[in-house]
Amino acid sequence: MPPLFDAVPWVSLVMGAVILTVIIGAWVWFEHRVDPGRGAMDGPDGNACLRGKCGDAMEISLKFSNNRVIDAKYWTDGCRMSGLCGAAAAKLALNKTPEEIADIDYQVIEREVGGLPEEDLHCATLAAGVLQEALRDYLFRQNQQTTQSTAAVGPRSIKEEPTDYIERQVS
Ligand code: FES
Repeated sequence: MPPLFDAVPWVSLVMGAVILTVIIGAWVWFEHRVDPGRGAMDGPDGNACLRGKCGDAMEISLKFSNNRVIDAKYWTDGCRMSGLCGAAAAKLALNKTPEEIADIDYQVIEREVGGLPEEDLHCATLAAGVLQEALRDYLFRQNQQTTQSTAAVGPRSIKEEPTDYIERQVS
């Protein structure tokens, strides 16, 4: 008598699909538990995605309520260090006002991750640059809605990051 999986090949296909779904689901769940800031955001109030000269892209999305960040997400296709720095930038932005976010530069991010070797400093600079661009995007959108909000917080309050390695805006 042939084994069940040989006699009914679709059974093994279904079993394979179920096992794959469980593995992917567990991986997504684990990633979210370990790094809740990683991922995309629907309808962000401010968003930026930049690519550094190293070739890595990073995106940060901010959601505001009452002029404070209530949700921040990051995404990167870069190395572990860029992931660490993106996560730190998103975490640091939480509960902050635009003025407070403007103070988050690459040194703040470097401190947040516990220090970086010289060759990885650009990961922190990229994360800081993307965060400031996301803030600029938020302020720009606010400016579109009302001229009053930009009177209180103008783009000139945003620090210029030493992000000369950032070649171009991806989106
Ligand atoms: Fe590209 Fe870290 S190596 S951002």
